Amino acid sequence: MKLFTIFTTAFAFATASHAQTQYTSTAASAVEAARATALTLSPTSSIKGKTFNRFVSIWFENQDFDIAAADPSLKWIASQGITLTNYKAITHPSQPNYVASVGGSQHWVWEDWTFQIDKSVKTIVDLLETGGVSWSVYQQDMQYSGFEGNWVNQQNGANMYVRKHNPVMSYDSVTSNTERLAKCKNFTLFYSDLEADTLPQWMFITPNMTNNGHDSSVTVAGAFAKEFLTPLLSNQNFMKNTLVQLTFDESENYFNDNKVFTVLLGDAIPETLKGTVNDTAFNHYSILATVEKNWGLSNLGLGDVGAAAFW
Ligand SMILES: *[C@@H]1O[C@H](CO)[C@@H](O)[C@H](O)[C@H]1NC(C)=O
Ligand SMILES: *[C@@H]1O[C@H](CO)[C@@H](O)[C@H](O)[C@H]1NC(C)=O
Ligand SMILES: *[C@@H]1O[C@H](CO)[C@@H](O)[C@H](O)[C@H]1NC(C)=O
Repeated sequence: MKLFTIFTTAFAFATASHAQTQYTSTAASAVEAARATALTLSPTSSIKGKTFNRFVSIWFENQDFDIAAADPSLKWIASQGITLTNYKAITHPSQPNYVASVGGSQHWVWEDWTFQIDKSVKTIVDLLETGGVSWSVYQQDMQYSGFEGNWVNQQNGANMYVRKHNPVMSYDSVTSNTERLAKCKNFTLFYSDLEADTLPQWMFITPNMTNNGHDSSVTVAGAFAKEFLTPLLSNQNFMKNTLVQLTFDESENYFNDNKVFTVLLGDAIPETLKGTVNDTAFNHYSILATVEKNWGLSNLGLGDVGAAAFW
């Protein structure tokens, strides 16, 4: 959606401390070279939380609540957990929502661009590390761990992996740190970490541009979500008192209240609450509030402070 491009372009250029450029796909040769030496880390930990011991947020793209809630695959997912019927995104378009979900503010990110937020700005990563809670970001089709570019399908040129849907990549506090970059991994690593029982306690997952619904439909996104989550819901390496949050970044319609379809599921959800709804007012900052409260972490002093935690 580019409705406000002209306005936000002017605004972004006026924001001197936040460098930005347009997206272009990284060249295959550069990817190949960097992949050979890319560092990958798979840290684990077992910090006991108040209501869950692992948190997983998986994000889909651009859909209004009612349309997502009517999709048969997403309906099935709703039957496995608690549907949050009053959960709103922060803004439009996509990137500021991802940025806000880990940083408690959109930090002047107004558009889908290569913004770089000053190194002094903290995110949930700082809080998790202080608390000893292991974390990783899993992005489908990210070309190698710590990849900072964008990637298209080499066969058909379709957008495959985009930096704007990776919540931590806009933060210099992450990208200036090799060990943090090493925890931004692709789905190959997700499955090898799962197999080796080396998944962390906090995860953010983004499917590729087809599977997340961005360049496809809610039917494709829903089908992917069901296919991806079904085996995980009974996998002992994944379900360790785990709270999974499935959500959408923003509504498709820019003129409604930005309500998005969100379900909480996983073995942290009591059997009696499966298939129920919760109409408490939540938003993407609730993710931070929930994680901070669960592990007794500090906070970012931003949107996270006023937001309601899921539990
Ligand atoms: C995923 O990342 C690893 C580690 O950097 C890399 O070796 C591998 O080629 C990547 N897989 C895909 C499908 O891009
Ligand atoms: C995204 O991944 C699926 C497999 O899960 C693949 O079929 C699809 O082609 C990928 N999307 C793009 C744009 O390559
Ligand atoms: C809904 O959320 C509120 C706020 O966290 C909580 O107090 C309540 O127990 C939740 N209800 C259900 C049914 O999960």
